Amino acid sequence: TAANRFRVVEVGARDGLQAEKKFVPTKIKVELIDRLSACGFSTVETTSFVSPKWIPQLADHNDVVAQHQRFPGVAYPVLVPNSAGLKNAMATGVVDEIAVFAAASDGFSKKNVNATVEESLKKLIEVTKTALDANIRVRGYVSVVVGCPYDGAVNPEVVARVTETLLAAGCYEVSLGDTIGVGTVNTVSKMLDTVLKHVPAEKLAVHFHDTYGQALSNVLVSIEKGIRAADSSVAGLGGCPYAKGATGNLATEDLLYFLRGNGFETGVDLEKVVETAKWFNLAAGYDKWSRVGAAISAK
Ligand code: HMG
Ligand code: MG
Repeated sequence: TAANRFRVVEVGARDGLQAEKKFVPTKIKVELIDRLSACGFSTVETTSFVSPKWIPQLADHNDVVAQHQRFPGVAYPVLVPNSAGLKNAMATGVVDEIAVFAAASDGFSKKNVNATVEESLKKLIEVTKTALDANIRVRGYVSVVVGCPYDGAVNPEVVARVTETLLAAGCYEVSLGDTIGVGTVNTVSKMLDTVLKHVPAEKLAVHFHDTYGQALSNVLVSIEKGIRAADSSVAGLGGCPYAKGATGNLATEDLLYFLRGNGFETGVDLEKVVETAKWFNLAAGYDKWSRVGAAISAK
């Protein structure tokens, strides 16, 4: 039934690889995206059209989007911070979905995009409009929805306002990011209650970094409040280069095991994701494992 459908947005190739110290070769990124596409995700975020001075790990964005396969029914959003990024993404001729990102605190916003929340929203409204006019779908992100590494606790009303602004600008969905993974059932619950007074659950996704091991509990709270989409990264890759100490996203394998065990249908093949993580570790010289991936691989 519709109530049991859950959308998992795979962000490992972008959120994961943007924060890894090593530059992962383009060829491996492309194969990672192709293998993830074959796992059954409906959304695979691929890269960022940000300044290579800020994120050198994804400086090969043009080659990545030109070379990966496009499976029917799969959306491949790329992150875009400003009009320059949108222009570059559009110049590739293949990008049909972007993701814009704002924050719920000025401290983080300044470090991440060198602008206050208000300044950045102004720019993102323009970027979103230009993209929609060119038939490019736009997903929105709000960062630091619970806590900010610079400004501390975040007011849920600010999260609600930024979310509403992005939706009003034309984003089809807004993903609420606990960038540094500090949220607990208590704080996430309060934040969601506030946001849900202003926007319907169908317009929201959640994006929990698992820094403090709270991500799955926070997904459960989100489900209880009606949200049916979450972002995760294969093998729990990544973090955020402008949030000190932030570790990877909730691992996709852990999320899928949790969802399957609780009766949700995702259309994603958990065992294939574990295989993909295994392949990536070998190919890229990593040793990153989700809890579930390690358990399944040990059998
Ligand atoms: P700035 O320095 O204020 O920008 O940075 P600028 O306009 O002055 O440009 C500086 C230089 O970058 C110029 O080059 C521009 O041409 C160039 P120069 O003249 O010095 O040679 N430039 C670009 N190049 C390529 N692509 C572009 C681009 N824009 C400018 N798009 C800027 C402002 C937004 C560019 C910068 O702060 C930036 O790139 N920030 C991105 C940071 C980032 O990617 N963070 C991680 C993603 S967000 C995240 O991970 C959170 C999320 O996962 C959710 C969550 O967990 O909460 C989404
Ligand atoms: Mg993130």
